[in-house]
Amino acid sequence: MEKQPQAFWLCALICINLSSLLHLVEAQDDQKGFISLDCGLSPTDLPYNDPSTGLTYSTDDGLVQSGKTGKIQKEFEAIFSKPSLKLRYFPDGVRNCYSVNVTESTNYLIKAVFVYGNYDGLANDPSFDLYIGPNLWSTVDMHGRTNGTIEEIIHRTISKSLQVCLVKTGTSNPFINTLELRPLQNNTYNTQSGSLKYFFRYYFSTSDRTIRYPNDIHDRKWYPFFDSKEWTEVTTDLNVNASNSYKPPQIVMASASTPISTFWPWNFTWTLPSSTTQFYVYLHFAEIQTLKSLDTREFKTPKSTLPPLINALELFTVIDFPQLETNQDDVVAIKGIQNTYGLTRITWNGDPCVPKQFMWDGLNCNSLDISTPPIITSLNLSSSQLTGIIAPGINDLIHLQELDLSNNNLTGGVPEFLAGMKSLLVINLSGNNLNGTVPQAILQKKGLKLNLEGNSDLICPDGLCVNKTGNGGSKKTNIVVPAVASVAFLVVLGSALAFFLVYKKKKTSNIEGPSSYTQASDDRTTRSSEPAIVTKNKRFTYSEVLTMTNNFERVLGKGGFGMVYHGTVNGTEQVAVKMLSHSSSQGYKEFKAEVELLLRVHHKNLVSLVGYCDEGENLALIYEYMANGDLREHMSGKRGGSILNWETRLKIVVESAQGLEYLHNGCKPPMVHRDVKTTNILLNEHFQAKLADFGLSRSFPIEGETHVSTVVAGTPGYLDPEYYRTNWLNEKSDVYSFGIVLLEIITNQPVINQSREKPHIAEWVGLMLTKGDIKNIMDPNLYGDYDSGSVWRAVELAMSCLNPSSARRPTMSQVVIEINECLAYENSRGGTSHNMNSQSSIEVSMNFDIGTTPGPR
Ligand SMILES: *[C@@H]1O[C@H](CO)[C@@H](O)[C@H](O)[C@H]1NC(C)=O
Ligand SMILES: *[C@@H]1O[C@H](CO)[C@@H](O)[C@H](O)[C@H]1NC(C)=O
Ligand SMILES: *[C@@H]1O[C@H](CO)[C@@H](O)[C@H](O)[C@H]1NC(C)=O
Ligand SMILES: *[C@@H]1O[C@H](CO)[C@@H](O)[C@H](O)[C@H]1NC(C)=O
Ligand SMILES: *[C@@H]1O[C@H](CO)[C@@H](O)[C@H](O)[C@H]1NC(C)=O
Ligand SMILES: *[C@@H]1O[C@H](CO)[C@@H](O)[C@H](O)[C@H]1NC(C)=O
Ligand SMILES: *[C@@H]1O[C@H](CO)[C@@H](O)[C@H](O)[C@H]1NC(C)=O
Ligand SMILES: *[C@@H]1O[C@H](CO)[C@@H](O)[C@H](O)[C@H]1NC(C)=O
Ligand SMILES: *[C@@H]1O[C@H](CO)[C@@H](O)[C@H](O)[C@H]1NC(C)=O
Ligand SMILES: *[C@@H]1O[C@H](CO)[C@@H](O)[C@H](O)[C@H]1NC(C)=O
Repeated sequence: MEKQPQAFWLCALICINLSSLLHLVEAQDDQKGFISLDCGLSPTDLPYNDPSTGLTYSTDDGLVQSGKTGKIQKEFEAIFSKPSLKLRYFPDGVRNCYSVNVTESTNYLIKAVFVYGNYDGLANDPSFDLYIGPNLWSTVDMHGRTNGTIEEIIHRTISKSLQVCLVKTGTSNPFINTLELRPLQNNTYNTQSGSLKYFFRYYFSTSDRTIRYPNDIHDRKWYPFFDSKEWTEVTTDLNVNASNSYKPPQIVMASASTPISTFWPWNFTWTLPSSTTQFYVYLHFAEIQTLKSLDTREFKTPKSTLPPLINALELFTVIDFPQLETNQDDVVAIKGIQNTYGLTRITWNGDPCVPKQFMWDGLNCNSLDISTPPIITSLNLSSSQLTGIIAPGINDLIHLQELDLSNNNLTGGVPEFLAGMKSLLVINLSGNNLNGTVPQAILQKKGLKLNLEGNSDLICPDGLCVNKTGNGGSKKTNIVVPAVASVAFLVVLGSALAFFLVYKKKKTSNIEGPSSYTQASDDRTTRSSEPAIVTKNKRFTYSEVLTMTNNFERVLGKGGFGMVYHGTVNGTEQVAVKMLSHSSSQGYKEFKAEVELLLRVHHKNLVSLVGYCDEGENLALIYEYMANGDLREHMSGKRGGSILNWETRLKIVVESAQGLEYLHNGCKPPMVHRDVKTTNILLNEHFQAKLADFGLSRSFPIEGETHVSTVVAGTPGYLDPEYYRTNWLNEKSDVYSFGIVLLEIITNQPVINQSREKPHIAEWVGLMLTKGDIKNIMDPNLYGDYDSGSVWRAVELAMSCLNPSSARRPTMSQVVIEINECLAYENSRGGTSHNMNSQSSIEVSMNFDIGTTPGPR
């Protein structure tokens, strides 16, 4: 199927500074914020300074709940420094996590060192996975790594606590020797998305010295590298002023490489794991030669009299962390409960909900889609030998629907706060030693299923319980009746109200607002499967359909579900009648439910459903007529007329974006379109854009497919690769498809073209952009008649919509704002022109051969 778009991002940092000799300022106490753990060090051992670096290491005790300590064997000790000699290993449980206090929203350099050293005497190299929070960071495989291995990543923290987890993947026990965290300056190593996994970090010198703390205040490790055949070394004894935020070490910046000949490019090649790997390169420059008065050193300009010079280079691959952590308030609450009851279950560490396979036992969580944090919906501590009172912390699990604390030794009263927990539907406190009076508010709570049996000292206020509970537990009594009664009443009232509102709305007003749809959808959940009164007058008979289409006289086109005909209702209103091929009754009920929903969705940028026909085999959908066809036809010139100019194109996508935004945010429940593409953007007689074909894809198979709902629907090329991979539908899939539409209006290229250098449009645009000029991708039919600032913004927006990780894509609301700004740029043309054409050209023109084919380095 579709490959993910391949994109290259390059970041260049340039600091060309020459300074006079300064005396070396090396602050000694600035391990500020450093966390350096010697894993396996005894809690009674005091923190110590590692003589080779001066770093202060302390025990990991208290930061991890589990694991045993060990030591590498004597024969391996010689080549390792002290912090690597001891280790912690994890024979119990699948996932074991370190939980470290960090500053939130801060980039951290995180380093973990693994030295097996046959600590267990099994002489069997372990292999296991490493996670940060709920996301896989790396697989550690010690095979052939007698000198140990280091995993390093630059990762931005989300909350005040960071979890590093070791996960058993086979039979061997995960282990770790040291864990180090170094906060970085906020404005450095930022990415568009994802974290930066270390690939290499070189400084160009013939020295053999590896540099880290204290020379590097961030404790990055710089390895020397030099290609003596191609390069000349330049060094200085002066102190280099490299006082930019990245703070490269003096020693690193005091040497550099230049090509042997002034006229040669400086060339550096590396091999990436795959051709789709995204990576960041950081280039560190400092002029360390004293230039003669007529000398200039510039890259890629004819003016330059000196060859290029570079001091250091860092390379990272981008690693996406799509899974969000569990809602932080829920995490704090559940940890509080864990403390209160002193629960030491082996699964109760790391993120409580995700990844799903490591969810804490006794919990249930809800994660509707991966762009919202999971929440805890059920806590079951039945038969867990709990003692003491019902923990007040439970009140903080505000999303809780089920609470089962049955068969423990809980004492004290039934706390009143349980009545105030809005989502709670089930409470089971049976089989405890609770006493006192059950609060009235709980007994009266609507919809609550409450089980208090077997609490012999519990008193129930008169009249509220069907049977009193103070019966020694011999009689099983569930106190549920009053609650159910009020629920039933509420449902009846609720649907009556909904009908009234909808009916009234129809009669009196055309103004549509989100709130009325909330009402409408509530309505949907309670209605029966019979056609409802309110929609009856939108229901047409088959003979009416025949009349309105004049016996299917004029074909408008062939849609995904069947033929589309022109028609007229009430003599004047033009409509498009879509006949549905209805072979089986499967999905029919859903069809009806959705039609009823769609009949109520009104937005100026959504093609509205005028009515439907549902008569035996004959199913039809009747839409408002869109006189000017679809956007694709206009882009391809099929409809004749003049080519759409840039401003019109922007207007059309702004309107389409608004329609989509409405489906996502204005409808309750939100609707995912699932088939956003240029042929589904229709234009009416005033060239107003409206989205067509939303919603139905759930109940009707796409042409050629026989199954519904669970299959991945959509159009090749527009399909969100993440959705395709995970089968997890969310509105960000529409954002992806919308990004493709943006690229189409920019380039007017086919979405997939096998004869192109890169068949998929996103990959092709990514490739062309690395080659430089935006003109290469623009639709030539526009003849350069556009504001380049506006186009750049549109391209950037499109690329962000196409982020492989749905969580990193903007929401449609953000897209609407952004694209309106593009339009504003274009409208204000004639004023200052924004020349952004030169942006991001530095990295590509630097003679870096970003080869993806294997080659010598
Ligand atoms: C981490 O922070 C929490 C709350 O802010 C505090 O209770 C705990 O002691 C801290 N842990 C360490 C190891 O500093
Ligand atoms: C980085 O920025 C965040 C807020 O944006 C702030 O909380 C944090 O303290 C900053 N970290 C550093 C190291 O400046
Ligand atoms: C381990 O390091 C030593 C030098 O310290 C080196 O000679 C040896 O080749 C290394 N072994 C491996 C497997 O990399
Ligand atoms: C280093 O360069 C920066 C910016 O060019 C300047 O602000 C700073 O004063 C310089 N530092 C020294 C010690 O020369
Ligand atoms: C750079 O080096 C690679 C491999 O060493 C070589 O294939 C390539 O042609 C060189 N590029 C330039 C511009 O010299
Ligand atoms: C809680 O777990 C027990 C088994 O451990 C199960 O019997 C019970 O049904 C669960 N409670 C709920 C509310 O699902
Ligand atoms: C509750 O505690 C009592 C003693 O206080 C003990 O005998 C009993 O076994 C406990 N019950 C449970 C279910 O743990
Ligand atoms: C506790 O009661 C709830 C609701 O009545 C029930 O679903 C659950 O299975 C019960 N728990 C046990 C351990 O029986
Ligand atoms: C409930 O039991 C506790 C002891 O477990 C006792 O201190 C308290 O007074 C009792 N409350 C009532 C209302 O009986
Ligand atoms: C209440 O208890 C009585 C006996 O004490 C029993 O006959 C009756 O069925 C019970 N009612 C309910 C609703 O359980």
